[in-house]
Amino acid sequence: MTPFYFRILLCSGAFLLLVVVSISSYHRDTLYDTVDKVKDKVQGIKHERLAYATFLAGTVAEHDGLVVTAHNFTEDIYFTSVRLLGYHLMHKPSTRSRRKIPFVVLVTDNVPESTRAILRNDGATVIAADTVETGDWFQPDMWRWNDVMTKLRLWQLTQFDRVLFLDSDTALIKPLDGVFDDPGAAIKHTIRNPVDAIDDDIESPLPEEYLLATFPEARHDHSMPVVDGEWAIGPDYFNAGFFMMKPSEELYQHYVSLMNPANGTETKFESRYPEQNLLNYAHRRNGSMPWQNIATNWNVFRPTMRDVELGVYSLHAKWWGPKADLREWFAKEEALMEGYYNGRDEASWEEETGWADEMELELPITTRMKRWMKRS
Ligand SMILES: *[C@@H]1O[C@H](CO)[C@@H](O)[C@H](O)[C@H]1NC(C)=O
Ligand SMILES: *[C@@H]1O[C@H](CO)[C@@H](O)[C@H](O)[C@H]1NC(C)=O
Ligand SMILES: *[C@@H]1O[C@H](CO)[C@@H](O)[C@H](O)[C@H]1NC(C)=O
Repeated sequence: MTPFYFRILLCSGAFLLLVVVSISSYHRDTLYDTVDKVKDKVQGIKHERLAYATFLAGTVAEHDGLVVTAHNFTEDIYFTSVRLLGYHLMHKPSTRSRRKIPFVVLVTDNVPESTRAILRNDGATVIAADTVETGDWFQPDMWRWNDVMTKLRLWQLTQFDRVLFLDSDTALIKPLDGVFDDPGAAIKHTIRNPVDAIDDDIESPLPEEYLLATFPEARHDHSMPVVDGEWAIGPDYFNAGFFMMKPSEELYQHYVSLMNPANGTETKFESRYPEQNLLNYAHRRNGSMPWQNIATNWNVFRPTMRDVELGVYSLHAKWWGPKADLREWFAKEEALMEGYYNGRDEASWEEETGWADEMELELPITTRMKRWMKRS
């Protein structure tokens, strides 16, 4: 090779490198997206739209006349727990999503705009949900669940392919992105002739495909992973505080049809735990859309410190309650979250006002600096 050609080669190589470096520094996310798309094409797979989601009802805050700001938000415990979950999913280095999966907060009509604005500022995608009307059958165990059927609007978020739903009182020990790869979290075909078919007369048709993946609710004393025989109710009953689903308008309509029994007073599911029992019924194991199992260590209900030691990924507990184990751990996480958001807000305030530039800093000359100066 002559030196001339060699130089051209070198120049074009350097130019290409420059282009790649400048593209990647200015359009980092776009570049990653492009790489993802190319990879998907090559491997013949579709890039899925995934999301984490929780549900925030204004029921209790409205009842107690609570309106909070970014400074006194911890007065509203449900709102605080949504912020803590968001901090864990979006920001905390040891737990945040590695795949930048968005965090959706589905809010009811009675959640004030000021509260929604704080969540958006945290980085969450806030989606308003119209109240789902209920009938005479609706007799939840606790009045604070009055808006709970609105949670079913999650199935209308068809802009996503798969969604991991987490109750707002959930906190992370480790990142949860791996749940999307759990073999049980794959979309299933609806079964045509199940043992226990739907009642065509009063129930609306089912989608071709569905997904509801979770694990049976464990009893308080359990191994980790939970083994057979350690269930709270049985191997076929799940807690609706942690599940993977596929949004589907058709399935949403089916749930609504289950809520409107022919005589208006009796549903096929017991309404003490209204949305949980509706989902357990609609996805009964002998029906057309049986729910699927994922690993039990993704999340544990009523956790203890022992579960954490045994490697559970996330915890589901009314952690502000007097009986909760792990209260100290949660208090520390809450402090970390407040510190993170306060620090971020303060830094941007100082930047906007130019306050930091005017500050005169007197830095002490340390022995480390002296050593460095002597050397250079
Ligand atoms: C929070 O602060 C705002 C503004 O100062 C006030 O209007 C509101 O009542 C406070 N909320 C609570 C629960 O203390
Ligand atoms: C399906 O299972 C449920 C309990 O999980 C039971 O109550 C019901 O009778 C079963 N249906 C049929 C048709 O066997
Ligand atoms: C309501 O309908 C259910 C299911 O068809 C039936 O079992 C029940 O007896 C009915 N109740 C009344 C009050 O008519």
